[in-house]
Amino acid sequence: MSNPQKHTWYKIAESVAEIDFNSGGLAEIEVNGKKLCIGKHNEQLFACTQKCPHAGGILADGYIDALGNLVCPLHRYKFNPANGRNISGEGYFLKSFRIESREDGVYVSFETKPVI
Ligand code: FES
Repeated sequence: MSNPQKHTWYKIAESVAEIDFNSGGLAEIEVNGKKLCIGKHNEQLFACTQKCPHAGGILADGYIDALGNLVCPLHRYKFNPANGRNISGEGYFLKSFRIESREDGVYVSFETKPVI
């Protein structure tokens, strides 16, 4: 059965500048009752689950490293936020979502991004 939430775009901010990113380039937001981690690296946005797939670390408390990888604050596993791959090699997968900056605001969809 299809999930209507999956294909709906939710406006999360009027602009990227309005989002309160921490010094590590991450922010936690709530969208339609669901908490997500969003991040910005080199003007690229990403959105993913709030918690790390390893042991539930709150990803918005981590940071984005110089290569653009999302680093979990608990055990420092690294993920490519563009496709969810666990690039430090522990075999976990981070669910990431679509996010777009448009003329009238920033939008998130719960449609997961394909693994590339
Ligand atoms: S909880 Fe994220 S690396 Fe362990």
